[in-house]
Amino acid sequence: MKALILSGGKGTRLRPLTYTGAKQLVPVANKPILWYGIEAIVEAGITDIGIIISPETGEEIKNKTGDGSQFGATITYIVQEKPAGLAHAVKIAQPFLGDSPFVMYLGDNLVEASLTNFLNAFQTQELDSLILLCPVSNPSAFGVAKVDEQGTVLGLVEKPKIPPSKLALVGIYFFNHNIHRALAQIEPSARGELEITDAIQWLIDHQKNVGSRQIEGWWLDTGKKDDLLEANRIILDTRLEIKVLGEVDENSEIIGRVKIGKGTKIINSTIRGPVIIGENCLLENCFIGPYSSIADEAILKEADLEHSVILRQAKVLQIQQRIVDSLIGERVELKVAPKRPKAMRFLIGDDSQIELT
Ligand code: DAU
Repeated sequence: MKALILSGGKGTRLRPLTYTGAKQLVPVANKPILWYGIEAIVEAGITDIGIIISPETGEEIKNKTGDGSQFGATITYIVQEKPAGLAHAVKIAQPFLGDSPFVMYLGDNLVEASLTNFLNAFQTQELDSLILLCPVSNPSAFGVAKVDEQGTVLGLVEKPKIPPSKLALVGIYFFNHNIHRALAQIEPSARGELEITDAIQWLIDHQKNVGSRQIEGWWLDTGKKDDLLEANRIILDTRLEIKVLGEVDENSEIIGRVKIGKGTKIINSTIRGPVIIGENCLLENCFIGPYSSIADEAILKEADLEHSVILRQAKVLQIQQRIVDSLIGERVELKVAPKRPKAMRFLIGDDSQIELT
């Protein structure tokens, strides 16, 4: 059994962060989204992993994630020149996959459920494909499945205007070698991509055995800012280990579940968990409220924030109002004068969003 993680694509919905970096490396609770997927795959006993990367962001993914040894796996990187679709990614991975069955995992998906039971079902029932489904309120944003009472998949459609059900396709799929026959037959969709939903539909139309399971627990597709903040909230709620390695002075207060990395200094501040703060940060005269993640080397002075994600080396200085529901990119500097400002000066990248409410 092998695994193929799709970590190419353009990440248009997370711009401007994704102009300079891969969306799969944006951190959730200070860990790249992609790494949660790798860990889930290794936990299910699969250690031969291929990762699809794009020419633009692939190097960064390779440099950060390495050869897989830190996860107990072997990683092979496969460059996809253009984001020509999920099925196209599988096509170009054929030399890596060979005839082996595999799990395909979309690198921007996060699930609570372990993969082990699904893998067992796929193997013991000798399925050609097993897809995972989750009821959602906005099925038009996903691939959607129609299934009968036994879970047999009757049909699939990608981002339909009129969805046949509320069951969205989760970005985790199991396949055997027959998927390659389907890939050889399908044509690009109206949006110009080779769709994996069309390949699975081909399997169904050719009497192959396609099963489905509904996943339990949460599932997040971290494509947009609010999804990412929600993923951050859930991971901090469920998986944060309490550990304070940095220095906390006697005028500071740490309340609830908080993790603070080594080399970080907390001065005259209140941190109300769940909160994670990375290494070598400086926080002075701050209030950091629940569901905040602050990455390494960030500097926050006279800042008040909650339910927000601050990336590496960002500076947040002298902001009197509370910052909420925000995602602040690497090396960003946010600074407001202590009194009511007479003017504001900005140097803001394309697609940035600023709301003074
Ligand atoms: O998240 C679940 C959904 O994922 C499914 O319900 C849909 O059926 C499926 O098509 C997919 O939809 P998205 O619009 O969310 O796919 P996205 O373009 O965001 O790509 C998913 C991941 O695959 C992302 O990590 C980028 C990567 N990718 C994407 C394309 C199109 C590639 O590596 N190569 C590609 O060509």
